[in-house]
Amino acid sequence: MSDSRREIEAMIFDLDGVITDTAKYHYEAWKLLADELGLPFDRAFNEQLKGIDRMASLEKILSQMPDGGASITMEKRVQWATEKNKNYQRLIEAVDETEILPGILDLFRELKQRGIAIGLASASRNAGTLVRQLKVDSYFDVIVDPASVAHGKPAPDIFLKAAETLGIVSKYCVGVEDAEAGIRAIKGAGMFAIGVGDKQTLAEADYLVSETALLSLSEIERHFRQ
Ligand code: BG6
Ligand code: MG
Repeated sequence: MSDSRREIEAMIFDLDGVITDTAKYHYEAWKLLADELGLPFDRAFNEQLKGIDRMASLEKILSQMPDGGASITMEKRVQWATEKNKNYQRLIEAVDETEILPGILDLFRELKQRGIAIGLASASRNAGTLVRQLKVDSYFDVIVDPASVAHGKPAPDIFLKAAETLGIVSKYCVGVEDAEAGIRAIKGAGMFAIGVGDKQTLAEADYLVSETALLSLSEIERHFRQ
């Protein structure tokens, strides 16, 4: 049922692939490791890793081994995950505000003007560093530390924690994601889900745009109120 009095109180953003295109650097960093391990890894496979935390991503890559990765000790896993992270950190070293995706800054400014809270719900332990490099850290009313929640995306925990910290009920929150796991997390949290990207992958989103430049607050509000 439409509720014209229903207003957005918070918008909670994913980082990688929404605020900046670091998804490509995650891909490159995993590719370096997978090549070294002799495991297949391409962009289609990488799609499954979007939104998924580091160890869970590694598990998916190792599951392609003949024994599904069962013989790989935890020590080895930690070593490989650390190696991937070092690759990634080297790749993002030079990231600066020129890598903010189109439309994001205008949206942040408009949200601020309207008094709508802004949250960050990224699975990445590098998110804090990145938002500082992008110089957008001051826009956020809350940045959830992914290490502080029990379950990663697609579980709703990180979006729920953002809303709880803001003191805003889920039904007045909008989440923005580029990954299937992220959309499931938003929906699981009882929020309105905006997908940025591909229609097939993000079929569960409540509202979909093909690119960030198309994220307009008035359009988002129109869909939210429907
Ligand atoms: C998510 C990315 O935002 O963060 C994933 O979409 C990544 O690809 C995850 O694996 C964890 O990132 P990090 O920086 O903690 O390894
Ligand atoms: Mg993402």
